Amino acid sequence: MTETVLSETPAEGVRQITMNRPDRRNALDRATYQGLIDALAAADADETVRAVVLTGAGGCFTSGNDIKDFAAGGMDGPRVAIDFLTAISTAKKPIVAAVEGFAVGIGTTMLLHCDLAFAGSGASFRMPFVTLGLCPEGGSSYLLPLIAGSKRAAELLMLGEAFGPELAQEAGLINAVTDEGSALAAALDKAKALAALPPQSVALTKALLKRGNAVAVAETIATEARHFGERLQSAEAQAAFMAFLTKR
Ligand code: COA
Repeated sequence: MTETVLSETPAEGVRQITMNRPDRRNALDRATYQGLIDALAAADADETVRAVVLTGAGGCFTSGNDIKDFAAGGMDGPRVAIDFLTAISTAKKPIVAAVEGFAVGIGTTMLLHCDLAFAGSGASFRMPFVTLGLCPEGGSSYLLPLIAGSKRAAELLMLGEAFGPELAQEAGLINAVTDEGSALAAALDKAKALAALPPQSVALTKALLKRGNAVAVAETIATEARHFGERLQSAEAQAAFMAFLTKR
């Protein structure tokens, strides 16, 4: 467990993993990605864990990749992000997300890999990849059209505007909208329900549900990552990062 990723057991069979950099709106820097990868691996390896809840501290899910790391360039940042996407998209235990506040960038796309997701009524989602001079990641250019339809996917991924939990539900990113502040309770309820079911049957059902798209998802994550890595070096992207970091 790192400081920026908390792992706890709020109920028998349930592992809660919390992104914990609230002063940065839980932006994912390298250490936090690595902490998430380790926490997911530990949950998969621990036979007492039957369901995982993924959430963020301080009333925020995550503001996405740390823009300082984006601005710094180099391949270390993208690589650990891709390793995290591979880890979450191939995890064996069911993952239930609880979203309050902001879910930006990978904060939204990681929901495509969670089995269930709940969001409070004040949650705000956004995939501002194009706004930042980047391109889709996390398998979203394949999975979002599949679940939301091509027009909705183009709207959300090309325009990159913020959207609320009702639209997130309509697009298939979350199961349900809860009262503000109640997403974690809803996620824990479902995780406890999953933990009470026969674990081998739950794992097999998850594997079967993922099987049909597994090859395409892995291929898309890799293809997007190549383009994303190139885009990070582009003048368009570097200007957008500087604008955010200097709050122009
Ligand atoms: N990377 C690095 N730092 C971030 C960050 C990120 N993704 N998100 C927030 N922060 C920092 C802010 O720079 C700010 O730092 P400061 O206190 O030194 O000024 C601090 O976290 C709080 O953020 P702030 O913008 O003041 O909070 P807010 O509640 O007004 O807005 C967001 C929250 C998430 C809407 C806004 O921070 C944001 O748009 N962040 C960038 C999201 C993004 O583009 N992510 C990459 C997607 S690919």
